[in-house]
Amino acid sequence: MRTDIPYNQLVDTEWRRKESNRRQRTALMVLASVGCLLLVAVALYSLLTPAASSHRHPDSPRPDVSVVREKAQSCSDTCKIVVAESIPEGVEFNSSVSHPSIFQQWMNLMSEARSSIDIASFYWTLTNTDTGTQEPSANQGEQVLNRLAELSGKLNVRIAVNAPQGQPLGDLRLLNDSGADIRTVNMRELTTGVLHTKFWVVDKKHVYIGSANMDWRSLTQVKELGAVVYNCSCLAADLEKIFEAYWFVGANQSIPSPWPASFSTPYNKDTPLQLSLNHTPSSVYLSSSPPSFCAAGRTPDLQSILSVMDDAERFIYIAVMNYLPTMEFSHPKRYWAEIDTQLRRKAYERRVKVRLLISCWNNSQPVMFPFLKSLASVHDPKHKLDIQVRLFVVPADPRQRKIPFARVNHNKYMVTDKIAYIGTSNWSGDYFVNTAGSALVVNQTESQSLEPTVQSQLKAVFERDWDSDYSRPLAQDSDLKTFC
Ligand SMILES: *[C@@H]1O[C@H](CO)[C@@H](O)[C@H](O)[C@H]1NC(C)=O
Ligand SMILES: *[C@@H]1O[C@H](CO)[C@@H](O)[C@H](O)[C@H]1NC(C)=O
Ligand SMILES: *[C@@H]1O[C@H](CO)[C@@H](O)[C@H](O)[C@H]1NC(C)=O
Ligand SMILES: *[C@@H]1O[C@H](CO)[C@@H](O)[C@H](O)[C@H]1NC(C)=O
Ligand SMILES: *[C@@H]1O[C@H](CO)[C@@H](O)[C@H](O)[C@H]1NC(C)=O
Ligand SMILES: *[C@@H]1O[C@H](CO)[C@@H](O)[C@H](O)[C@H]1NC(C)=O
Ligand SMILES: *[C@@H]1O[C@H](CO)[C@@H](O)[C@H](O)[C@H]1NC(C)=O
Repeated sequence: MRTDIPYNQLVDTEWRRKESNRRQRTALMVLASVGCLLLVAVALYSLLTPAASSHRHPDSPRPDVSVVREKAQSCSDTCKIVVAESIPEGVEFNSSVSHPSIFQQWMNLMSEARSSIDIASFYWTLTNTDTGTQEPSANQGEQVLNRLAELSGKLNVRIAVNAPQGQPLGDLRLLNDSGADIRTVNMRELTTGVLHTKFWVVDKKHVYIGSANMDWRSLTQVKELGAVVYNCSCLAADLEKIFEAYWFVGANQSIPSPWPASFSTPYNKDTPLQLSLNHTPSSVYLSSSPPSFCAAGRTPDLQSILSVMDDAERFIYIAVMNYLPTMEFSHPKRYWAEIDTQLRRKAYERRVKVRLLISCWNNSQPVMFPFLKSLASVHDPKHKLDIQVRLFVVPADPRQRKIPFARVNHNKYMVTDKIAYIGTSNWSGDYFVNTAGSALVVNQTESQSLEPTVQSQLKAVFERDWDSDYSRPLAQDSDLKTFC
């Protein structure tokens, strides 16, 4: 057993070797024909002696050897990432930007599954029995539920769900009866929040993370965005640690402090996981909230958002359903301006162009709009202040209007000139302080590949939505009654 090798040294060495190998290859491209390139690279690969010295980041957790070995093996995965969307029925963009549907990706994940499916979820309404409507568009949700029930009898299916507070239990009963293991997490008791996370880990190898709930509307009536990463056991193992934390709390109904070492991670904003995503060298990490659920090494979701913003040089585009510089659900009222302040600071100090695409729908909190107008007033070309806000409205015909909690842009992502951030949280204080959520952060700034980066894909989605007929600028005199 080589217990003497610090974990980060292994990773660092591995990464440096890959890095310098990559640089060599790039330089050689000028000299060698493409045909020779592979041979030369292989030769170089075997000749290169890795530079071994490195320092452990002071915040990173003390490694344990079993983790070291697991990672050392799996980080050579060639991972494939797919951006997936749900576009509500009837919504059409005049644009070539489109992505596979979340429905299709979920079905695909289930058809790949051989041994296990772990799902972290807020609530389950995959059939439309909850709405009293006879909606043909519930068909996709029903297919997902039936397939999952079928697999629950064959594979190890585990579901962590927020302790239901009046939500229907039919889907969970069906899955339980079919053989799934279900644990409820009583976030209300533990942190006064909810388990709002939405992700899947399949065979400890493939993952989904994004805004879609386990809700039929999330597939056909609500606009959603997520990412699926295939063949990526490294990343899956790290997301699994967040799942295991919910699973632990679901059994124990208390939050350990500190968390046992098995929940800690070496991957965070300072020492991200280095891997190949769609043949592109990438730095990736997962953030989590609330902070009390972050074991050693895990970047809290708020810190991840603030640091992604801080790193931006040219633009910050944000598409979220809700944006409030308050603790939405706290009594007495509390102002909470961590994100708001960071946006104003970046706009002022670095002249970063800030765009917020926020949803306007039946359930929007009216108090959100004065705060958004305040942000949007930080716009003055003379002083190079450039914050703009638009409201996105998903139209509804009379039949669609009858579906409760539908017809809304539920996206929760951010893209800067460098980074793609795909999250699961509404953007108000509660979600970062006491509600469970998580996010995938992808940095492919070093990409020289011809494949589009996740950043460029999110940017294109954002621009498609921003420029579409469904979004309109929020002006100081905008009257919301005419808006949504
Ligand atoms: C789509 O956009 C193009 C370019 O802006 C425009 O010429 C075309 O008329 C648009 N089509 C529709 C259906 O709006
Ligand atoms: C699952 O079913 C078992 C009995 O088979 C029952 O004891 C348990 O409470 C059920 N769990 C849920 C979450 O319905
Ligand atoms: C994952 O890897 C397997 C084995 O190499 C391959 O057959 C499969 O197509 C890959 N999946 C994706 C989505 O790339
Ligand atoms: C529950 O958590 C507490 C505190 O972390 C711990 O002392 C106890 O052993 C745990 N119980 C179980 C059954 O894991
Ligand atoms: C909004 O809610 C009102 C009543 O609460 C309802 O009459 C109306 O149809 C809803 N509109 C949409 C678009 O859901
Ligand atoms: C997120 O915000 C929407 C709109 O206010 C709300 O309906 C939903 O319940 C929120 N999520 C949670 C977990 O509170
Ligand atoms: C993204 O990666 C580049 C190159 O590896 C690095 O210099 C930069 O600091 C990273 N940005 C963030 C926000 O992690």
